Amino acid sequence: MRSNRVKELSRRKRNENYKEKPMDGTRGRKGMLAAAAVLAAAGLAGLPAIAQETGESLFKTKCAACHGADGAGTTPMGKNLKVRDLRSADVQKQSDADLTAMITKGKEKMPAYETKLSKEQIAKLVSFVREMGKKK
Ligand code: HEC
Repeated sequence: MRSNRVKELSRRKRNENYKEKPMDGTRGRKGMLAAAAVLAAAGLAGLPAIAQETGESLFKTKCAACHGADGAGTTPMGKNLKVRDLRSADVQKQSDADLTAMITKGKEKMPAYETKLSKEQIAKLVSFVREMGKKK
C-alpha cells in the first residue's frame, strides 16, 4: 500500500519533469500546430468583420488606385486619366442615381462595376462619395 503511494508520487514527479522539459523537435512542432490552430480559429472569428465592409473599405480597395483614398484623384493613375475630384461641386451636384449609374455602367476609362459589385456595395460607395464631399 505504502509502496504504491510512493510509486504514484514518483510517477507524478516524472510527469511533472516531463512537462518541464524543454521542447524537443516533435513537441515543438505540436506546439506550433497548436499555435497555428489558434491563429486559424482567430482568423475564422475575424470573418464577420471582413464581411462587414464599409463604403470606405470598398473605396480603398476598388477605387482608390484611380480616385485616391480621399477621392481627390491625385494618384498617378488618376492624373493620367484626368479624373475629377470626387469631392468637387461638379461631381457632388450629380444625383445619387447619376453616381450609381456611373459606378454601375462605367464610362470611358471608368470601369463598370455592374458584374463586380452588388447593388448594396455600390450604394455604400455612393454614400461614401457623399461623405468625402462633405469633408472637403
Ligand atoms: C481605372 C481607373 C478607375 C477606377 C478603378 C475607378 N474609377 Fe471612377 N472614374 C474613372 C475615370 C477615368 C472617370 C471619368 C469618366 C468620364 O467621365 O469619362 C471616373 C468617374 C467616376 C465618377 C464620376 C465622377 C465625375 O467626374 O462625374 C464616380 C462617382 C466614380 N468614378 C466612382 C468610382 C468608384 C466608386 C470606383 C470604385 C468602385 C471607381 N470610380 C473606380 C476611373 C476609375
